[in-house]
Amino acid sequence: MNKYYITTPIYYPSANPHIGHTYCTVNTDALARYKRMTGHEVFFLTGTDEHGQKIERYAEKAGVAPQEYADEITAGFKKLWELMNISNDGFIRTTDRRHMECVQKVFDKLYEQGDIYKSEYEGHYCTQCEAFWTETQLKEAGGVCPDCGRKTELAKEEAYFLRIKKYAPRLIEYIRENPDFIQPVSRANEMLGNFLLPGCEDLCVTRSTFKWGVPVPFDDRHVIYVWIDALVNYLSAIGYLSDDDSLYRKFWPADVHIVGKEIIRFHTIIWPIMLMALGLPLPKKIYGHGWLLFDGEKMSKSKGNVVDPFVLVERYGVDAVRYFLLSEFPFGNDGNFDNATLITRINSDLANDLGNLLSRTVAMIGKYFGGRIPANTAPVPEEDEPVVSTAKALFERMDRAMDDIHPHIALQEIWKLVGVCNKYIDVTAPWVLAKDETKKARLGTVLYNLAEALRVIAIAIQPFMPNTSPKMFDQLGVKDDALKSCDSMKEFGLIPAGTEVTKGEAIFPRIDAKAEMEFLGSMIEEQRKKAAAMKAAEEGTPAPAEEKKDEKPLITYDDFAKLDLRVAKVIECTEVKKSNHLYNLTVELGDEKRTVLSGIRDWVKPEELIGKNVVIVYNLAPRKMCGIESKGMILCASTPGDADVVPLTTMKEIGSGNLIR
Ligand code: MSP
Repeated sequence: MNKYYITTPIYYPSANPHIGHTYCTVNTDALARYKRMTGHEVFFLTGTDEHGQKIERYAEKAGVAPQEYADEITAGFKKLWELMNISNDGFIRTTDRRHMECVQKVFDKLYEQGDIYKSEYEGHYCTQCEAFWTETQLKEAGGVCPDCGRKTELAKEEAYFLRIKKYAPRLIEYIRENPDFIQPVSRANEMLGNFLLPGCEDLCVTRSTFKWGVPVPFDDRHVIYVWIDALVNYLSAIGYLSDDDSLYRKFWPADVHIVGKEIIRFHTIIWPIMLMALGLPLPKKIYGHGWLLFDGEKMSKSKGNVVDPFVLVERYGVDAVRYFLLSEFPFGNDGNFDNATLITRINSDLANDLGNLLSRTVAMIGKYFGGRIPANTAPVPEEDEPVVSTAKALFERMDRAMDDIHPHIALQEIWKLVGVCNKYIDVTAPWVLAKDETKKARLGTVLYNLAEALRVIAIAIQPFMPNTSPKMFDQLGVKDDALKSCDSMKEFGLIPAGTEVTKGEAIFPRIDAKAEMEFLGSMIEEQRKKAAAMKAAEEGTPAPAEEKKDEKPLITYDDFAKLDLRVAKVIECTEVKKSNHLYNLTVELGDEKRTVLSGIRDWVKPEELIGKNVVIVYNLAPRKMCGIESKGMILCASTPGDADVVPLTTMKEIGSGNLIR
């Protein structure tokens, strides 16, 4: 069996994960799932990069120890990956003992053989990026950090250095001889042209101005500077230099490291040089993907324009969010995340094109053939051919796209088949065939072909939308695993006639575009305000003036009387597992008990709610979130930007269930 080792970057647990991290991990997951589906033995690794001055400072600001800070945010990353259905085989934290021991052994080895040496460093240091920059690099960037644009600090210290210069010529030759090593190819040219050919300096690999890191094994005044620490994760996670290195022996070298374009330099210069010095084979490929921007801007917590994946999943479901991230942005390029496109793609590609195709096919098989897939006995080649040939060609096309690390192209290929099927329905007009008893056999063939094409689509989407695929098989009545395998995509006509279909719920319900645009727009607006207020507080300047909200139009008493507001007593309050924001509350209204979901987790603790009277909108239409139906809404007062949110209660005990008028 072929092995396949694929990795994401290990993320800094400095702030909660956002849609950019999710983008990288979901794409890597689709690649890993695809390789598993095509018979590879896969090891898929992700993790967190927890050391360094940045985390130390964040923790200090939060008033906790760095480890505690990293633990909490790392838990959030893990929770997100679980929610997003990420199939990672390993999760490495740079604070794991196994990792720290490995880093020290690597450092020792390189020092012993003279590839790391002690000297003195003077340079421009960017705390945010944990990177030293040369005069030239700084000048080119206009005096600021070339990566993040922040001001750098002059720093001088005794430090250890990695011999980059010694290995650079060998690396240049390697990159030239292995055009697949750095992908997309434009990034290879950039690395050669901007960094390697003009000449590289040896790299400072330790720091002595902070403590939060892996100590140099023989000189504990120094900690190992983040890039050596971070990059070694790809080896430590599979047991390199440990008592049990069986995974290392099986999986190294990595088949591909997926990284964002801003860290490709570290992965294509420092990492290969470290590996050359260690005498290890190089990873087969480093793929640098583009950035997700929000409305054309870089996402950042300080701007308040980060998109929270938990919120999107809560509203649209995991597979819709995965689909959007996988299909909308060509993986090697930057992409612009905007709410309107997200909503349009969910409604058009998923609800209309795929969802309706499945529900119409199953419904017609139900209506015209008693729910059993008819036999294919009346082909009309010129009509059927596009469906048959597109379905048969799909595997090969998808395979090529996935080999090229282009999940978006693989999805385009799948959606070509979806489109061809929808067109087939228009051309053959089954509802017209159904009116003529002599055309029953032809109708049967049309529906057979549609069901078979949907089987192929259900297989093809497995790596991208792992929850949807089984729902499709269920509705199509496909139970046999052989008919769900990717080998069976290559043949058309395998679904047995007579298979019983089952009408199920819409796999992607349409969403209310206008309401969702308003919701998402106001969420980002609130985040921006909060971020501006926080920035002002940090800088000691007055908070930006709150825009005067448009007053709502006057309403009549009758309008008001439509609201049924009641006093409710909170009996239970638990966190909704799949959400970062929601509580699941059981409230009592006289003799009645109800479930109400409320997104107030950031502001109120369960123990502050239990036993209290709150005010609920009793006649609000029920709504399902995270699979739980909420009946009613808790009213809260809130300050601008939701800096504080406080549930309303009654001035004195009055008994639950009483009306508010
Ligand atoms: N810890 C280093 C990586 C060490 S790897 C040995 C690091 N961490 S990070 O938290 O900053 O995460 C960087 C990665 O997250 C990027 O390389 C990219 O894969 C992903 N992304 C973070 N923000 C992103 C976007 N806005 N858009 C797309 N991907 C983004 O660098």
